[in-house]
Amino acid sequence: MPQFDIDAVRAEIHALDKSIYMNTGGSGPLPNSVAQDIISAYQDVAENGADIPTVRGPVRDRFESARQVSAGLFGVDSSEIALFRAISEGISTVAYGIDWNPGDEVIISNEEHPTGIIVWLNLVERRGIKIKKLQISLDREELLSRFSDLLSDRTRLVAISHVTTDTGTRLPAKEMCDIAHARNIPVILDAAQSAGQFPVDLRNIDVDFYACTGHKWLLGGWGTGIFYVKKEWIPKLEVSWSGSGAGDWNRHTDDLEFTDSAHKFEFGGRHDTLYSGMSKGIEFVQSVGLENVETQSRALTDRLKAAISEIDGATLRSPESNEFSTGIVTFSVSGLSGTDLNAQMFERWRILGRPALNHSSMRLSCAFFNSHQEIDTVIDAISALANENR
Ligand SMILES: Cc1ncc(COP(=O)(O)O)c(C=O)c1O
Repeated sequence: MPQFDIDAVRAEIHALDKSIYMNTGGSGPLPNSVAQDIISAYQDVAENGADIPTVRGPVRDRFESARQVSAGLFGVDSSEIALFRAISEGISTVAYGIDWNPGDEVIISNEEHPTGIIVWLNLVERRGIKIKKLQISLDREELLSRFSDLLSDRTRLVAISHVTTDTGTRLPAKEMCDIAHARNIPVILDAAQSAGQFPVDLRNIDVDFYACTGHKWLLGGWGTGIFYVKKEWIPKLEVSWSGSGAGDWNRHTDDLEFTDSAHKFEFGGRHDTLYSGMSKGIEFVQSVGLENVETQSRALTDRLKAAISEIDGATLRSPESNEFSTGIVTFSVSGLSGTDLNAQMFERWRILGRPALNHSSMRLSCAFFNSHQEIDTVIDAISALANENR
């Protein structure tokens, strides 16, 4: 039994009545409090005008309070948080904030999302950098030793997923940061699939940069992202994109002083109201408790993985061991492409996931709001499809 009132949680997320929603790793469903927050803020803008002080003031206050809420979520200082629009913005801020020389190396893994690859390919093209890929092993010692062996005197950055997108493999982030730091190499974690899935203490992990989005496991809506930059890196990381809020500009002398907070990496106007929605999503997850979130999702994934392993014709593609596991369960069914599998699961049982592993498999996200009855339906559906395609 979950340690929270799952019925009350589910009643707050209306989309759960319409499908078996198991694509939180793609886009999390919106709790009503998030949707209402965004809708009412826009209504206020529509009815009164964006720059009326009674409209503008609260919107800005809520934007700044989203910074505090984000900092609280990860146990860091709000001066280390920039509010961005996506993960790409965080990764790009780091990628283009380093002065690369030809031959400098970045370490990524063999399971990155395109967001964690394309930016580096661009730098291969523009600056002659070299990408080295860590082949993920599900043996911890082997993984760490492969990682250690990849680092060289030319390594300038490690840029890796905290939890991989396709199989939901959770990497030993703290140990990897320790190994990289022993050689003075900074680390950025792509936190798309980790933020909101389990408690994350960034001081403990000791990572240098952390970039996540609000719209997946944090249930906070699209167009929002959180970027953490460790205090010591704020003055060292070059600013590549800039705008009016980044610092103090003296219009008479043209002297410019960047702020000494992560704020200096924010640029351009944005949908401030969306960040207030995002913090409602974070608060929703926090009200359940991240330990409870992780425990419930583990209970669901354990059952689902065990069942998949028993179904003739179905193959589990996600790690089995607790150590590497998260709420993401990826599997294939022989005789069906991931695209067909995904389509049939939705058309016949309204189970929403997404194709994975180059369209060979299907990815399901077991979130804390999913129920055991939903997992029963998923298991029956996979058994039926495996049976029909044998
Ligand atoms: C590991 C990972 N990185 C990045 C993203 C998305 O990046 P962005 O927010 O830039 O669209 C996703 C999912 O869409 C992801 O799973």
